[in-house]
Order: sequence, then C-alpha cells, then structure tokens
Amino acid sequence: METQTLTPDSVGYAHAASILGAGGLVAFPTETVYGLGADARNDFAVARIFEAKGRPRFNPLIVHVPDAATAKRYVIWDDGADRIASAFWPGPLTLVLPLRPDSGLSPLVTADLPTLAIRVPAHPVARALLAEFDGPVAAPSANPSGRISPTEAGHVIAGLAGRIEAVVDGGPCDVGVESTILGLSDTPKLLRPGGLPQEALEAALGTGLSHYQDGDPLSAPGQMLSHYAPGASVRLNATRISKGERLLGFGAVENATLNLSPAGDLTEAAANLFHHLHALDKSGDAPIAVSPIPEVGLGRAINDRLRRAAAPRH
Ligand code: TXA
Ligand code: MG
Repeated sequence: METQTLTPDSVGYAHAASILGAGGLVAFPTETVYGLGADARNDFAVARIFEAKGRPRFNPLIVHVPDAATAKRYVIWDDGADRIASAFWPGPLTLVLPLRPDSGLSPLVTADLPTLAIRVPAHPVARALLAEFDGPVAAPSANPSGRISPTEAGHVIAGLAGRIEAVVDGGPCDVGVESTILGLSDTPKLLRPGGLPQEALEAALGTGLSHYQDGDPLSAPGQMLSHYAPGASVRLNATRISKGERLLGFGAVENATLNLSPAGDLTEAAANLFHHLHALDKSGDAPIAVSPIPEVGLGRAINDRLRRAAAPRH
C-alpha cells in the first residue's frame, strides 16, 4: 500500500474521513503528537492499528471526540469529570472513566477493560477531521510500538509508510509530549504525566494526586518500561560527557550536539524532545547522554519519556 500525504484543507479532510469510514488508517496531528486514527466502532479497523504498530493487544487505545457532550455517549460521566473537562478540554488531557455498556465501541479499543480513555484534542486539524468524520476515532501515537513518538508528518512516514493509508500533514506539534492521563474511575490518579502539568490538575482538583508505580496492576497498561527508544543507548542526568557520546543538552551547556532548550525553558524542551531524539536516531548510533532536567511542570513528562528511552530494551 502506498501511504498518501494529505493537505489540511477541505479536500484533504473529505478524503481522510472517507478512508476512516471505509475502515482505513489515517494519521493526523494533535497538539501533543501525531495519532494513528481508525473508526473506534469498527473491529477490523481497530485491529489494523495494532497490526500497523506491532502493538500488543492488551494495550488499550485512546478515543478522540470533538467535545464533552460526545464523550458522554461512551463513558459514564459524573460531576468530577465535568469539572475537569470544563477546565481543560479541549487540550492535552485524557480522562479514564467507566465504559458505558451501550458505547458501541469495538472491545479491542479498551482491551476488554471496564474503563475507556477519552480525549478532546485542541489541534485545529484534529478538530476538523473529527467534525468531518462525525464518529469516535481511536488513535494511539503514530509510531511503531516502543519507538520514538512522532511530532511531524515525516516521522510518521519514516515509521509507518506502506502500513497505513494516509497522513494529514499539519506541520510540527506544539506541545510535543503525549497527553496527561488522569484516572477518574476511582480516586483521581495520575496514570501518565504529559502535556498538561500535574500542578495544574492538582490546583483544579484542590488535592494532591497519587501516581501509578511501574508494575502497579492498576496503571496504564501501556506504560512499559522500555519505550520511546532510539537505536543508540541513552544515559540520563549527564553533567559531563565521555568520549564518543553525543550530548542532548538542556540549558546553558557546552558541546551539546543538540539542545532541548538553550534558555532552559521546559515548554520549548517538550516541543523539541521527540524531534531531537528522531534527529539523533537518524544521524548515527553513538551513545546519547542527556543533561539533567528539573522534575517540575512539563519536566515530569520529559523525564518520564527519557527514563523509558534509557531503560533496558526487551
Ligand atoms: O497525546 C496523546 O495521548 C496521543 C494522541 C495521539 O492523542 N495518544 C497516545 O496514545 O499517546 P498511546 O496509545 O500512545 O498511549 C495511550 C496510553 C497507553 O499507555 C494506554 O495503556 C493508556 O493510554 N490507556 C488507554 N486506555 C486505558 C484505560 N482504559 N485505562 C488505563 N490506561 C489506558
Ligand atoms: Mg504511544
């Protein structure tokens, strides 16, 4: 199959929506990363997402909808969800809520869990595609499972060309790390740090958030330890580099091969993270050393991704 690149205009959206309607796969930009979309009601289409990515079937998908009113068709809603959704949707936040028995979604989406991860993206291209398709779109990040997430159409093509029908090219993603995942089916729990800082959620909830731990059976099943991995090895918290290493810098450091943010700005660093990891991956296999990054705000999501990039591979 030849993967088509579509333009973000009415012709492109119409074409993308007709591919989705026919059970095909279309990658599209969100403000976080590019997603690999399929009709969430169509078993065959959802199964193709797992095949194209080489993703284990036990790892459930996020469903994308245009607004909270539509989300209520698929999940059991409550006041807590309402408060958080009105504060942060559309935006880089996914909510995990009890799945409605009459949702009509493919059971492959939730990997048979009683809960559903659901999100309202803010990116204009994602919103236009959702409006044109007029149905729930299941979309994991548009990368081969375990590899670096895509923040540009070129990254999607490099990883998935020949396995998906199309990608809508909407340019680079602004946020650059995946959505924050908040579990609300029980006591509020942070399931994945991401593009919405934990501090903002805690301020809205008026309480601290407990974290999942690796190995916690209640955590996001996709939080595998090795993930986001470039070909080269990755070493964290490097304050100096050894011979032969390439430095992925942060802040005012010398000899960086690439710098996430010379000014030490975490928003800029998040936007550059996957871009720089892809660039380092393409340009050789010398080991990568990464400068320390503060564990606050978006730094938590950046460090989470880097720890997984550095973890032993399986
Ligand atoms: O920013 C994002 O969230 C991007 C864009 C495309 O929306 N999507 C994304 O999807 O990052 P993915 O599949 O790469 O990551 C989804 C995560 C996985 O770790 C998965 O295990 C978790 O969400 N997840 C999905 N459904 C869940 C559920 N019912 N309960 C707990 N975790 C869930
Ligand atoms: Mg992913």
